[in-house]
Amino acid sequence: MKVIITTLSYAKMNKVYQKILQGNCLKVLDDFYSKNGKFFDFIYADPPYFLSNGGITCQNGKMVKVDKGNWDKSKGAEINHEFNIAWLTRCQKVLKPNGTIMVSGTLHVIYSIGYAMQQINMKILNNITWQKPNPPPNLACRNFTHSTETIIWAAKNNKSKHLFNYKDMKLLNNNKQMKDVWTMTSPKKDEKKFGRHPTQKPIELINRILLATTKEQDYVLDPFAGSGTTGLACKINNRNFIGIEIEKNYVSLSKKRMQAG
Ligand SMILES: C[S@@+](CC[C@H](N)C(=O)[O-])C[C@H]1O[C@@H](n2cnc3c(N)ncnc32)[C@H](O)[C@@H]1O
Repeated sequence: MKVIITTLSYAKMNKVYQKILQGNCLKVLDDFYSKNGKFFDFIYADPPYFLSNGGITCQNGKMVKVDKGNWDKSKGAEINHEFNIAWLTRCQKVLKPNGTIMVSGTLHVIYSIGYAMQQINMKILNNITWQKPNPPPNLACRNFTHSTETIIWAAKNNKSKHLFNYKDMKLLNNNKQMKDVWTMTSPKKDEKKFGRHPTQKPIELINRILLATTKEQDYVLDPFAGSGTTGLACKINNRNFIGIEIEKNYVSLSKKRMQAG
């Protein structure tokens, strides 16, 4: 696959850099590190969950197979874990010494992510639960309705002096300390007007993440950019952004959302 890295473009609206690179994040990050070294203040990653394996779910009231794309198919626990170590190691390298990373996942992947973080000596700071008030019903009725995703927040290593905008979070929470359970709905219809991505995150979630962990003009990476939600949130909040996405269609969806945003 061709990896395209060009000079960073300048977003006129908010005076921040916005760039999406098409390719496999492993290769793109190797190239990026050899040219730029420790570059990013913060990384948000929403990697494959490895859950598209023939199960069923409910979509718009209908029973459908869980199939988010080839990128989401499991290759077995060991290979999935090796992949998680591979991309997390590269993210750790491109983080500045005090940089941090947040990674989203469901039960299918989050334990591997947490273990991989410990194996490469990241410092785990928090375990945030995103609670969805309107989850799809559980059709099999054989276990509880899935209504949460986990976001692990970790610093580059034990020496990192990480940034946490404590006061801003408190202000956002009626002047009470912000807890690690965040209740937010899935993306609204309006957030999908440029096209559909099966695992698009709500802009409200990424806005809060950026407000908690970064300053204006910081450099933010998303190695699994999908529909470009992180890029759009960066533009809204005046943060510089570089995203990586393997699928051409999602690269163009990201560009459309970021340009309109
Ligand atoms: C869970 S989705 C991210 C969704 C995103 N957070 C959003 O709001 O739209 C993961 C994305 O990673 C992409 N992807 C999978 N493997 C990749 C790889 N090795 N390198 C770069 N992108 C990859 C998939 O095409 C998919 O769009």
